[in-house]
Amino acid sequence: MMATEARTLYPNGQQIHIEHLILERLLYKLEAALDGLTCHSEVATDLLSTADDARRYLRKLAEGLPGHCRREEILLLDPAAEISPELAEFCRHMKTEHISLKAQVAAFQEGLDDFARSEERHGLIGRLKDQGKDLMAALRQHVAKEEEQLSGFL
Ligand SMILES: [Fe+2]
Ligand SMILES: [Fe+2]
Repeated sequence: MMATEARTLYPNGQQIHIEHLILERLLYKLEAALDGLTCHSEVATDLLSTADDARRYLRKLAEGLPGHCRREEILLLDPAAEISPELAEFCRHMKTEHISLKAQVAAFQEGLDDFARSEERHGLIGRLKDQGKDLMAALRQHVAKEEEQLSGFL
């Protein structure tokens, strides 16, 4: 199907694409905040304020992601699944990933909350950053797959 034809049939794809761009910008900010968490932070309060930035971006992500997934499923994945068995399989896979991504975001929120409450923050930094990196990689891979497989609809 030609991209232009798909766009006429699925005008909502562009909205989803824009949401992906917003999501990527938010991930970039979250990543920068997590990069700021280092064992070399001299003052404990620096560590806490950087963690607060990360928590704020993560909260935005946690608030925005369910709505994005819902809109995407209704406006993009369900219509795309009608096109071919291969696309139907892909869309099913994306929906499954939505569930795990939302759970991963919630788990990372808990991790950051624990971190903020802890008395031993320096010891938790490494694991926390790994958790954040895994989450961001999973989200980026998911969006990249959608942008690639559904490019005709976006
Ligand atoms: Fe998705
Ligand atoms: Fe998406």
